[in-house]
Amino acid sequence: MRNLPVDRDPKLLVGVETSDDAAVYLINEDLALVQTLDFFTPVVDDAYVFGQIAAANSLSDVYAMGGDPLLALNIVCFPEDLPPESIDGILRGGQDKIREAGALLVGGHTVEDKEPKYGLSVTGLVHPKDVKKNSSAKVGDILVLTKPLGIGILNTGIKAQIVSEAGYLAAIETMMQLNDVAKDAMVAAKANACTDITGFGFLGHAYEMAAGSDLTLYIDVKSVPIFPEALELADQGIVPAGTYKNLDHISCHLAGADEISPALLDCLVDPQTSGGLLIAVPEENLPLLIQGLEDNPTGYAIVGRVAEKEKKSIVLI
Ligand code: CO
Ligand code: CO
Repeated sequence: MRNLPVDRDPKLLVGVETSDDAAVYLINEDLALVQTLDFFTPVVDDAYVFGQIAAANSLSDVYAMGGDPLLALNIVCFPEDLPPESIDGILRGGQDKIREAGALLVGGHTVEDKEPKYGLSVTGLVHPKDVKKNSSAKVGDILVLTKPLGIGILNTGIKAQIVSEAGYLAAIETMMQLNDVAKDAMVAAKANACTDITGFGFLGHAYEMAAGSDLTLYIDVKSVPIFPEALELADQGIVPAGTYKNLDHISCHLAGADEISPALLDCLVDPQTSGGLLIAVPEENLPLLIQGLEDNPTGYAIVGRVAEKEKKSIVLI
């Protein structure tokens, strides 16, 4: 959208400028609308699992803004020769996940395409005071991550059939998991900023938070949760192409990358599907956030802190 003029409106609380997770539009002083869309090609063979993953991923952008999903529309592309039970499985997976989120599936659109694709457009609601931008972190905030990294690498390994059964199950369980618990926790703890970790990888989305907030993020790499099997695969050079693209994109904003192993760095920029939330919370509210994350099915970890702006937007320590 770089070549398009930017639409502005006083009621548009979050637009396209800060690469945030979703648009937010003020309805009245107690209510704002959250609007987002996402869809992609299958990441796993199981149609029902893929439907759940794609829906959880689309719903996540509403949670990342602090909102609650309300309505969802299917976006479906499929080849003529795709068996009807596959399409059925994808759509059922999507609907079950939408229901789990407490939202309603109210329609959608289907086109024929060479490669199957599925996702949702989601409308959510949020109290204007609870909107969590990705660009409003404050100096001194503590950074918390709510899902382990390495999903993209595991998915690459799964396609090559070199991932263990346990690794496969961990990957799909993580991708299918809604970010609802994490969202409730970070809203209750009055987080200053939040984004979800998806295609640009952990450091890519952390960079957007740093640049948008005009601050520097210190990342304690040893505390970042990573699937052990993903680290092993990265060590063998089995990483998706997107990993290198992501690293290219942010390497000039990164300090300390030379101090860590290439495999660890790969995991930090690995494109995630339906990843966790990266939350910047005031230090005094950290106990409240942790209390809310105790029951989070995908866990949580304190991964860094927010500092005054330095030459580099991200410092790995
Ligand atoms: Co997002
Ligand atoms: Co998104």
